[in-house]
Amino acid sequence: MRVLVVGSGGREHALVWAIAASPLVDRVYCAPGNAGIAADAECVPVAIGDTAGLIAFCRKAAIDFVVVGPEAPLVAGLVDALEDAGIAAFGPSKAAAALEGSKGFLKDLCAREEIPTAAYRRFRDAAAAKAYIAAQGAPIVIKADGLAAGKGVTVAATLAEAHAAVDAALGEGRFGAAGAEIIVEECLVGAEASFFALVDGTNALPLIAAQDHKRVGDGDTGPNTGGMGAYSPTPLLTPAVEGEVMERIILPTLRAMQRDGRPFKGVLYAGLMLTEAGPKLLEYNVRFGDPECQVLMMRLMSDIVPALIATRDGILKEVDLRWYDEAALCVVMAARGYPDDPSRGTEIRGLDAAGSDAEVKIFHAGTKRDGDRILADGGRVLGVTALGQDLTAARERAYRAVGKVDWPEGFCRRDIGMRSR
Ligand code: AMP
Ligand code: GLY
Repeated sequence: MRVLVVGSGGREHALVWAIAASPLVDRVYCAPGNAGIAADAECVPVAIGDTAGLIAFCRKAAIDFVVVGPEAPLVAGLVDALEDAGIAAFGPSKAAAALEGSKGFLKDLCAREEIPTAAYRRFRDAAAAKAYIAAQGAPIVIKADGLAAGKGVTVAATLAEAHAAVDAALGEGRFGAAGAEIIVEECLVGAEASFFALVDGTNALPLIAAQDHKRVGDGDTGPNTGGMGAYSPTPLLTPAVEGEVMERIILPTLRAMQRDGRPFKGVLYAGLMLTEAGPKLLEYNVRFGDPECQVLMMRLMSDIVPALIATRDGILKEVDLRWYDEAALCVVMAARGYPDDPSRGTEIRGLDAAGSDAEVKIFHAGTKRDGDRILADGGRVLGVTALGQDLTAARERAYRAVGKVDWPEGFCRRDIGMRSR
């Protein structure tokens, strides 16, 4: 088989790495990929938004199966376009990707199906939103309806902060069309966890859970990021909680999507708040998490390719995935200045030494090659990922590898996997 992965981040590197390990696969391509992906796949210079270019490449290279990594092309309808062109693809249709593409759509679905989530209202008018906020009081959460590259959510501690978030979205148009409508919702309290399931339209196969660290600084301080590290397993998602998440959140969602004529196929990533009243849905993503995917792929014992194809073909019932008991932990190394203004173009050395341990894999995110040199080319740059007997062993091994990366202009959190709760 010939497989194309679409994307260029650490998540796509992990997917490429797992797919390349499948005995079913002869060749793996990645569009556009990065310097690290180039070691595991053939990178092709086609942008993720260039639908016509991707279809043309698939035809030319006789691609049998496409795996779409990031949300933006999914929400824009890339899988529909590929399938219309006769190319089999993993990922939701545009209609199904609305679970991530429109938070208002998701919240209305939760309300209809009685899926536990934060109480909310939708607004297009700033004055009406502010009046509702004043009546509810702070803390309160303001969200842009559409995709905003992870920057569309404000957890406001004060009314002033909440009003500023309303003005930014509805007044100043900070998120463009994605912020022309906002959701104002109840602020939930609890621990957060990420839960993943493959969904084939009708059936769901739960994957393992992982935990992400969203804030840039140690001790969960500073601005939100795409994720500074991840680990799996997480003690928070006990089998009982997992069962509740499947019964009360995942299964009602896929039944509703099926009934509404927009069956969901792909990976459904539930961002959960584990509250005193049980797990509640914060959001859905319609793709693997990044960097959660990196730890999932390290722990996956089974061949991922039949599972991805069965998801697309609607025969997930035939799939049984096995996982290693070992823990996996990923430390993200980011360029100084991330997330606001990461510096670019600095040289990274020591990658061979850092990746020499068989239980360590360095997934690349924002890197590019310049002759013999590897340069930083984005905010999140590397995902140094290790397996270990338990989380402590995985963490020690990951940080030992981080210590060998010679990149003075990079930084990482020092406390990945050390959260007490
Ligand atoms: P989202 O993009 O919806 O996952 O939101 C980003 C982050 O904002 C989440 O990971 C939470 O930390 C936080 N968040 C979102 N919604 C809520 C909520 N209703 N209550 C408390 N925190 C929230
Ligand atoms: N790690 C969070 C995300 O992928 O959205």
